[in-house]
Amino acid sequence: MSVGRQIAPRTVGPDDIKAGRVDPQYRKTLTRLLAAHALAEKLTALGYERALEAVRDTELKPIIEKNLVEERKHARLVYRALEDLGLNEQASDRTMAAAYSGPSFEAPRYFAEHMRSELDLLMATVSVDMTGLIMIGVNYRESSYTPHAHAAELILEEEADHDVFASELLGQAVEHFGPPRTHQALRRWIPRAVNFFGPPASGFTNDCIRFGLKASDNGELAELYLTMLERRTTQLGLRLPKLTPDYPHAAA
Ligand SMILES: [Fe+2]
Ligand SMILES: [Fe+2]
Repeated sequence: MSVGRQIAPRTVGPDDIKAGRVDPQYRKTLTRLLAAHALAEKLTALGYERALEAVRDTELKPIIEKNLVEERKHARLVYRALEDLGLNEQASDRTMAAAYSGPSFEAPRYFAEHMRSELDLLMATVSVDMTGLIMIGVNYRESSYTPHAHAAELILEEEADHDVFASELLGQAVEHFGPPRTHQALRRWIPRAVNFFGPPASGFTNDCIRFGLKASDNGELAELYLTMLERRTTQLGLRLPKLTPDYPHAAA
């Protein structure tokens, strides 16, 4: 069952937490959310690092370099917010150990650990940058926790650029690799991308919504993503793969 927001955007700071002016559960929920966000940014940076090694295309290199610098900055911003709550990067990552090997991290994990071709890069940007833009733009910009809302504001403009890049790359993928190979790649990557939003209607997300740390449920964001992506793929004459109905989704 969905729950309503109880705390308004940008009304809680680190001092409110330290002074015990908010529900103790708020800090727990917030640190888990920030730890996931920070790790996703870091893995995306690592993916672009790999891309810099793997991709030969000289036109793509400067954009990969730019994105790499920006993703590192995003990760730093969110880890800094965690430090204000008493968690350093290592401690924060340790709390993510189980989530890291689960379905919600498969897209950024694959990008960071296995990406090796240009086609992978193209799919990774569609899977981590376009989804990231939605999560940050819809959920975190309106966070009740002021430092996260500020970080989201700073990250958002650059993520919007990454999204433009992703959309251009999707067009290039069709040109360079042809529709059948692009389709195959979409079948592998789109389930990962959709799973990146996390499971729908979880207790954790309900807490996030109640505390004003997220505006929408993961399931709604996943729908929004698929609608936006379908518009793009249709324009390029591509079909999106059908997905199995339940989380974690697979290509049907
Ligand atoms: Fe980012
Ligand atoms: Fe990005």
